[in-house]
Amino acid sequence: MQTILVFGGNGFLGKRICQSAINSGFKVLSLSRSGRPPASLNTEKHKNSTTSQWVNEVNWIKADIFDPNSYKHLLNQNINHVVHSIGVLLENSNYKSLMNSPSASSLSKVNNEQTYERINKQSALLLASTFHDSLLERKKSSSMNENDSSLNQNCSFTYISADKGFPLIPKGYINSKRETEFELLQKYLKQKDGSSNTSSSFRPIIMRPGFMFDETLNTGTRSYLNSVLSALDNTNQSLFQNKLPFIRPTVSTQAVSNCLISEIKDKNFTGVVSLEEILKF
Ligand SMILES: NC(=O)c1ccc[n+]([C@@H]2O[C@H](COP(=O)([O-])OP(=O)(O)OC[C@H]3O[C@@H](n4cnc5c(N)ncnc54)[C@H](OP(=O)(O)O)[C@@H]3O)[C@@H](O)[C@H]2O)c1
Repeated sequence: MQTILVFGGNGFLGKRICQSAINSGFKVLSLSRSGRPPASLNTEKHKNSTTSQWVNEVNWIKADIFDPNSYKHLLNQNINHVVHSIGVLLENSNYKSLMNSPSASSLSKVNNEQTYERINKQSALLLASTFHDSLLERKKSSSMNENDSSLNQNCSFTYISADKGFPLIPKGYINSKRETEFELLQKYLKQKDGSSNTSSSFRPIIMRPGFMFDETLNTGTRSYLNSVLSALDNTNQSLFQNKLPFIRPTVSTQAVSNCLISEIKDKNFTGVVSLEEILKF
């Protein structure tokens, strides 16, 4: 059985990645600062429901992405795939609660820790290099005792990036995503001739979802925004033959997760997965 470690596995997208991975027969570890399952699924009702059984099968673990000592020991075990599903859309810690209760006042406070550079970029590069080092370490010791068969499974590292921004999305957000993509691909993507800048240990996978919604939720600000954006997209398609490039389709967290698991399972896949590709799932 292959193992996936999802950083941010209790988040809005992360939990669906964990669900999809469990349904596809993977062993799943979710890492986050709280180490708890997503609050929306951590209730007695959900624990006993058959549709939420996957929650009991995920190993929910506490770790801080900026402190590799809190998770290195896990990477040194038989982890085949790592997913980075952490990011900030606004350089402000309150934007998630803002999605639930819009209020302009909470937008004014900027938290220096929650910058695009630190959360969207540095956390991903740190996790990738920690995973890379641990794979090299495992390869070295397996050549001595040959007991780590997981190393022959074409390990992967996934970065959840983003599609082009909507007009209201700050440029810094997309820039931080593209810069991270560039660095990951440059460092870890194997060239056609088999070479890479570092001795590549995993397949980098870059997912570019657009605005996401959850198929099981039809109330709240996100669901409302999804209806508005979908209506705009329909108009763009029917009246303007898709000529308004800044209007993009929305996508469900379930489609993103199913697409990602399919790319992880495809031992030959590496590189960028566009929104158009994701929408086929
Ligand atoms: N939401 C969208 O519509 C959308 C669209 C396109 C792209 N994306 C991208 O998709 C990714 C996931 O977004 P999301 O909306 O699912 O995010 P999210 O709901 O905020 O989930 C991120 C999770 O990461 C954990 N986390 C945060 N800081 C951490 C740290 N230092 N160490 C360990 N865990 C940490 C948090 O759990 P704890 O608080 O327990 O640590 C949180 O549950 C991001 O990269 C985002 O940019 C999102």
